[in-house]
Amino acid sequence: MNTPDPVLLRRAFGAFPTGVTVVTTRDGTGRPLGFTANSFASVSLDPPMLLVCPARTLSSFDAFAGCDRFAVNVLAEGQQDVSNVFATHRGERFAAVSWREDASGRPLIDGTAANFGCRTERVVDAGDHVILLGRVETFECSGSRGLGYASGHYFSLGLEREAAAAPRQGLKAVAGAIVEYGDGVLLESTADGYRPPQVALSGRARVRAALAEHLDAIGVDADIGKAYSIFDDAKTGTHYSYFIASAASSAAGAAGEFVPVDSLSQLRFVSAAHAEMMKRFALESRQRCFGLYVGDEQGGDVHQFN
Ligand SMILES: Cc1cc2nc3c(=O)[nH]c(=O)nc-3n(C[C@H](O)[C@H](O)[C@H](O)COP(=O)(O)O)c2cc1C
Repeated sequence: MNTPDPVLLRRAFGAFPTGVTVVTTRDGTGRPLGFTANSFASVSLDPPMLLVCPARTLSSFDAFAGCDRFAVNVLAEGQQDVSNVFATHRGERFAAVSWREDASGRPLIDGTAANFGCRTERVVDAGDHVILLGRVETFECSGSRGLGYASGHYFSLGLEREAAAAPRQGLKAVAGAIVEYGDGVLLESTADGYRPPQVALSGRARVRAALAEHLDAIGVDADIGKAYSIFDDAKTGTHYSYFIASAASSAAGAAGEFVPVDSLSQLRFVSAAHAEMMKRFALESRQRCFGLYVGDEQGGDVHQFN
């Protein structure tokens, strides 16, 4: 095989979904060092061993390739900011997170899904990386779900599951789509105000499939993407799951029209929760960096994945 195009190869490797870890050690002066790594793999149960691959380009490469001890911290859902600190931050990374050290002085990050304290077993040359093989001396597992990473984006199985889960008893379930085309989003006009196209779900219907069928039925050709907002509205007794979708054409379907994102703030929406959701969408679409809101009409959390 000729030398492959590195961009295409990176993309192909990136299709393999992984977790995210932060690998830590101390340099000769005792300074804590760490980098984000998804090249982690469990290797052996008996004896307990794992591996991770530091790149030769790391500023801390010599310290990791020559260390006696290191730790692998498996990040939990919601710790994408910690991942970003240990992937890009140029200053003192450990000043930006909460951490402690284990009995052997290995830096451990707080709030993770698991951590492994390792003694270096072997360091194997492997092209532009090395394989750091560690013998596990200590480990902890918190029970939190691990943060996911695939094709350059973080994902969170727990939140995706919540999006697909049946609503609390007594609530109606409604799925909707914020359908984008160019600079506009598709909105339906109702007597109570504007809202994105939506459909009432029956029972434990597969949410995405039901929404796709609905969009098809109203004449909108769109691909449904990530979950964007999941909230309960006590006033209307409804559990909403909204997804971002991209339309294949400007055909707005039966009841809708594409409205420029810039003018969303001037519209009256069916509820305060819908107005808040569309306000956040207008802001986030400028950066193309969309979070996922989980909560109710009064409050909740936005989880950022990009
Ligand atoms: C999700 C993710 C996974 C990464 N995996 C690895 C990895 O396995 N090995 C590696 O050397 N760098 C990996 N990186 C990149 C390093 O974290 C980054 O190059 C490093 O923190 C730069 O540190 P420096 O500025 O000290 O050189 C990854 C980055 C991200 C965001």
